[in-house]
Amino acid sequence: MNYLIEASILSADFSRLGDAAREAEAAGVDAIQVDVMDGIFVPPITFGSGVVKALRSLVNLPLDVHLMIVQPERHLAAFVEAGASRLVIHQETCVHLHRVLGTIRKLGVEAGVAINPATPLSTVEEVLEVADMIQVMTVNPGWGGQAFLESQLLKITRLKGMLEQRGLKAAIAVDGGVDPTTAPLVVRAGASVLVAGSSLYNDRAPVAENLAALHSSITGDK
Ligand code: DX5
Repeated sequence: MNYLIEASILSADFSRLGDAAREAEAAGVDAIQVDVMDGIFVPPITFGSGVVKALRSLVNLPLDVHLMIVQPERHLAAFVEAGASRLVIHQETCVHLHRVLGTIRKLGVEAGVAINPATPLSTVEEVLEVADMIQVMTVNPGWGGQAFLESQLLKITRLKGMLEQRGLKAAIAVDGGVDPTTAPLVVRAGASVLVAGSSLYNDRAPVAENLAALHSSITGDK
């Protein structure tokens, strides 16, 4: 099974984001997902390109920047300059989604598009060829620690079918409520990138132990 695990720092201690990113890197996560929220597209406000720049100087991992913001096209260059490896924009925020994904690629980084639980797959059907990753939200975005929406499993499977039918290699990411119970379900459904926040950053165990639990839930290795 080929899959990657990204640590979402939204669930980390905001007073120690650098340490949290370093801890995730040392534990062996494949990337860090930085959840940027503007208080408009989603109610909370988190952080901007300055935090991406700070993290870039601390870890060597890919920085996957999840832009939960309106008019993301206004901020693409700033996040790329800050050191983002991939920009994930929301379908719901882009009238000209095909053009914005192309712009991200022209800036030299990978282009991802996220869709909320209520957003049909058909809204991204025409951009599958210009996206490097499609991120299926398995929670309504804005907060960590929410319950996984099982209704989205079928969407993941249908998306995998659409990509295979067209011979496309775009990654399928799943974001929200990924933990040792849901991780094997989403991999089986077709996800290749698992974004995990509160199942990695919590007061139950260090990231390394939580990451090992995620991996063993998928592989079955104890
Ligand atoms: C939610 C964020 C998710 C969140 C995941 O808006 O996009 O990345 O941090 O957190 P958990 O894994 O706790 O659901």
